[in-house]
Amino acid sequence: MYALETRRLSFLPILLPHALIQRPGHPPTLQIYSPKILPLRQAQKQFPGRIRKLLLRSSAPFQLRIGQRLLITSDHRVVSSKDRSIPRLKIRAGPAFGSGEHATTQLCLRYLTQLLLDHPKSGPTVLDLGCGSGILALASAKFGAHTLGWDLDPTAIQEAQRNAKVNRLTSRVLFQIKDALRAPLPKADLIVANLYDSLLLHLLPRLEKHRKAGTRLVLSGILQGQENTILRTSRKLGWKLQRRGRIGRWYCLQFQS
Ligand SMILES: C[S@@+](CC[C@H](N)C(=O)[O-])C[C@H]1O[C@@H](n2cnc3c(N)ncnc32)[C@H](O)[C@@H]1O
Repeated sequence: MYALETRRLSFLPILLPHALIQRPGHPPTLQIYSPKILPLRQAQKQFPGRIRKLLLRSSAPFQLRIGQRLLITSDHRVVSSKDRSIPRLKIRAGPAFGSGEHATTQLCLRYLTQLLLDHPKSGPTVLDLGCGSGILALASAKFGAHTLGWDLDPTAIQEAQRNAKVNRLTSRVLFQIKDALRAPLPKADLIVANLYDSLLLHLLPRLEKHRKAGTRLVLSGILQGQENTILRTSRKLGWKLQRRGRIGRWYCLQFQS
């Protein structure tokens, strides 16, 4: 998969899958995706930007194991016979964030699957804010949860719906184009939000009724140096830290009320 990345957002009809990436404090970026580089070279003539090679999936199928609990794979054919008994999700490297390769996603998967295994209620409800490819929502559904996944980006929602079909989980999960910082948030037993830390700081005050109702919270996408700000804000709002994990420079925090 290749991506053309540009900051020039002038309107042009784009027939290829694309996503607009908005990050507070950064100029918006448009990414256009294609399995072949030629269509992107043509698009580049219209959009001044730089071609960034992402990953060539065909030569390197991706696989991630979360203990014995879950296996994420881009290709079922590469799963070894000893891993075949592990519950499995097939997630392709598509145009949405959330193939499972990023540390922020891996930390969420660890916490989420453990929380769901230990959950006293059968079929708990999970809210995945910033669902991207749907990986976290689908992992939750695989563990018996009824899940709602929200994302601002229509391309991400399309990809998440596609992944729900591929994994035969459409009856347990619903994906919607919604802004997690504006739309009224439904009740949930568990909320997971792998968003940037500045977005998490806006989200936290919106979760008061969830805290009072005993919702568990997993926050990810927190860069080293920002974790204390998130911890201070969440403590002020009455959340208690249960687990804190880190891969490289990325932190993930799990809270209870
Ligand atoms: C870091 S990705 C996480 C994807 C996936 N949940 C994972 O863990 O791999 C963050 C996602 O949040 C979405 N997003 C950013 N701001 C949002 C908002 N205000 N409301 C809903 N989604 C948002 C982005 O479009 C992106 O798909």
